[in-house]
Amino acid sequence: PRPGWAASADVVVIGSGVAGLTVALRCAAAGRKVTLVTKARLDDGSTRWAQGGIAAALGDGDTPAQHLDDTLVAGAGLCDDEAVRTLVTEGPDAVRRLIAAGARFDTDAGTGEILLTREGGHHRNRIAHAGGDATGAEISRALVEAVRAAGIETIEHALVLDLLKDAEGRTAGVSLHVMGEGQHDGVGSVRASAVVLATGGMGQVFSATTNPAVSTGDGVALALRAGAEVSDLEFVQFHPTVLWLGPDAEGQQPLVSEAVRGEGAHLVDADGHRFMVGAHELAELAPRDIVAKGIMRRMQEQGAEHMYLDARHFGATMWEHRFPTILAACRAHGIDPVTEPIPVAPAAHYASGGVRTDLRGRTTIEGLYACGEVACTGVHGANRLASNSLLEGLVFAERIAADITADAADGVRPAGEPVAGTATLPLLAPEARQAVQRVMTQGAGVLRSRRSLEHAAAELARIQEEADKAAEPGTEAWETTNLLHVAQVLVAAALRREETRGCHWREDHPDRDDAAWRRHLIVALRPDRT
Ligand code: SIN
Repeated sequence: PRPGWAASADVVVIGSGVAGLTVALRCAAAGRKVTLVTKARLDDGSTRWAQGGIAAALGDGDTPAQHLDDTLVAGAGLCDDEAVRTLVTEGPDAVRRLIAAGARFDTDAGTGEILLTREGGHHRNRIAHAGGDATGAEISRALVEAVRAAGIETIEHALVLDLLKDAEGRTAGVSLHVMGEGQHDGVGSVRASAVVLATGGMGQVFSATTNPAVSTGDGVALALRAGAEVSDLEFVQFHPTVLWLGPDAEGQQPLVSEAVRGEGAHLVDADGHRFMVGAHELAELAPRDIVAKGIMRRMQEQGAEHMYLDARHFGATMWEHRFPTILAACRAHGIDPVTEPIPVAPAAHYASGGVRTDLRGRTTIEGLYACGEVACTGVHGANRLASNSLLEGLVFAERIAADITADAADGVRPAGEPVAGTATLPLLAPEARQAVQRVMTQGAGVLRSRRSLEHAAAELARIQEEADKAAEPGTEAWETTNLLHVAQVLVAAALRREETRGCHWREDHPDRDDAAWRRHLIVALRPDRT
């Protein structure tokens, strides 16, 4: 489609989680004209659902070096050491700046020190939290308020369609579909020489996920269509403890934060046995992939659909003060964690891979940046360490803004003339969304094999054929099409990686194979434009 309306800016930021809001604020503070685009409302997206907190070496005796060690161990041999070093050394000050910008973390009533808890894979208490278990909501509140106060132009209800490029292949802006009124309505474009993808994750590729409905892999799908490099898509992290709502539960599921285990909750099987004790030196607080696998194995052994998280010993007062969000979610579903164990099972949670970037957040297309869950900076490797994601969004957002605004002396490079509009893709009907999700959960979920993945690939190809029957353009059709595209690339990567590493678990290749597979699977498609 030819864009109907056109606008321009120095920088377009797509997405309004911690990453997008931070880039927007920093670029605006440096005097750049920023347009912030978001698919729903400014405070929708994954950040506001984050519970446990943000990891940083802020506590007595903790150091960035120890945080680095824990991150590398969780990443199972595939982290980029320099990226991790950057994250852990710049992290503490980035958190302090977030606090200075207005985010209120939980502090000790006596000393005023930030309270720090522990999560899986951390050997120290280094997770700062807010509102007990509502850390993301507080960060979102503080940053959204700051964006509004800074008067940054925002376009809500805007789905990004495609990257616009000039004749030299450089970023020239983006096309958008906006459900708006007045100035911005329908398909249009914002021209800019710098575009930052901060679109979050792709959890909606699976049937059951902790991600909100907006996490449909739009940024990765755009990057693939534009020909940018995408890496590590096979590493989907399944959160071990998601409230189990029955075998047919679909869509966003309530998370039961690792911080609940960090404060002493026990994982128990149907017989009340603590099956993680003895399975790993950190027991329930082993890295996330190990706990998810431990749960799945025990479920298989017992023929059970879920395990239990037992935190009755916290008592009502601690539940109410420390974990009010989780308490309310459980009670809303008829479970009272004060008096009964919580049924839990793993569900899709986080994409460790994404659009490949360097340490300044630059992708392989000039002027296109990626930040937060959509990016693959190398800090997560094969399995992200708990609570490193908010930190990654914060630290790399600051680096991206620094890179974009570094050439201030030369002024802003004007956006080139776009040489192509939005690709005319065959779009999937929104009804296909559930079919894609079911195929992915069955074939490419926690436990995978050649057989299950080949079946998933064949089913996805069959769904793609349906696209020829062409759905009406609209947000849901584009989202479903994006889901299919990222699912196909994810399955292809998972098929190729014939080993078990981090959160990629191949039943038919149960061992880690460093000789063959200590490397990344990087995909770059030929730009698919018409
Ligand atoms: C949690 O609170 O368990 C989620 C933390 C994370 O995914 O980093």
